[in-house]
Amino acid sequence: MNEDAEYGCKIYINIYFRFILLTKFLTQLTTFNCISDNGVCVQEFSASYLQETRRGMWDDSREALGPLGLSSRSCILDVGCGTGELTQVLAEESKAKIVGLDADTELLQHARAFTTTLIAGDGTQLPFPDNTFDLVVCQALLINLPNPKKAITEFARVSNDTVAVIEPNNRAVMIDSTVDEEVKLANRTRTAFLSGLSVDGTVTVSSLQNLLGSGGLTDIQVSQYKHTRSVSPPYSEHDLTTAKTQATGRILTADEQTLLTGNLSRNEYDLLRDEWRRVGRKIVKQMQTGNYRRTETVPFYVAVGNVE
Ligand SMILES: C[S@@+](CC[C@H](N)C(=O)[O-])C[C@H]1O[C@@H](n2cnc3c(N)ncnc32)[C@H](O)[C@@H]1O
Repeated sequence: MNEDAEYGCKIYINIYFRFILLTKFLTQLTTFNCISDNGVCVQEFSASYLQETRRGMWDDSREALGPLGLSSRSCILDVGCGTGELTQVLAEESKAKIVGLDADTELLQHARAFTTTLIAGDGTQLPFPDNTFDLVVCQALLINLPNPKKAITEFARVSNDTVAVIEPNNRAVMIDSTVDEEVKLANRTRTAFLSGLSVDGTVTVSSLQNLLGSGGLTDIQVSQYKHTRSVSPPYSEHDLTTAKTQATGRILTADEQTLLTGNLSRNEYDLLRDEWRRVGRKIVKQMQTGNYRRTETVPFYVAVGNVE
């Protein structure tokens, strides 16, 4: 890390306490916890959704994080850190000062467990001077942004060395279940959900190469990995709650608006909910005898580029 960057990082750390006071202030002020005022937060996430979705992602292997050079970093920014699911891994793998930034002040409260340095802010307008960090990284942020190029340009501006993005390919999720109908139903629901999003959300090797290149990064490397989550006995509290929301059709409630914005009519939405009730009851029944098993595999990409 060069001297200017180290200075920038220190300056930032010094003003951190002022920001955290602002964060607390905003949290008290608002019930809508996303601070964005220009439509950058296209979707809100619950803490439990993020914690469950990332469960086990970095438990078995952290080989995919090799190109990030975590052990040699001094100052890392995790943009769109949410509840800190990646922040925790960064803190475990690096001695660097780690800063977490997110537009959602409520999610940031959960990330406190992994770093004390948290900022409420917009990843497309980062509140830092140029060259502040030696690594700027995000996980599952770009697919949620209307203008990911703007974010990458900002990442490149505030980094003096490396930018890394970790993005799931939600269109290629694979599900396997002991309740056969669940696979088709989950796929149908996901397709309808994705059609209702205002962002494209598609990532491929070439789209990531283009995106990082458009932000002026060089030596871009993109690799693909898989994250598999399983449900099997003994079922967790979360597994039991999910089955209950499936059997009551409430599984769709949080996404109702997105589903109706996409390719589902109200009638089709109601039929989809009925179908979930029917399939959910089968899932609960199999759980009662300890026979229910499900795996979900989410392909994800790790793309890394250097600042010129
Ligand atoms: C899918 S979550 C990923 C959270 C975390 N990185 C993880 O891997 O669990 C996307 C996160 O990006 C945040 N976000 C969305 N738009 C943002 C923006 N413009 N600036 C900063 N954060 C943003 C959301 O609040 C949310 O926490």
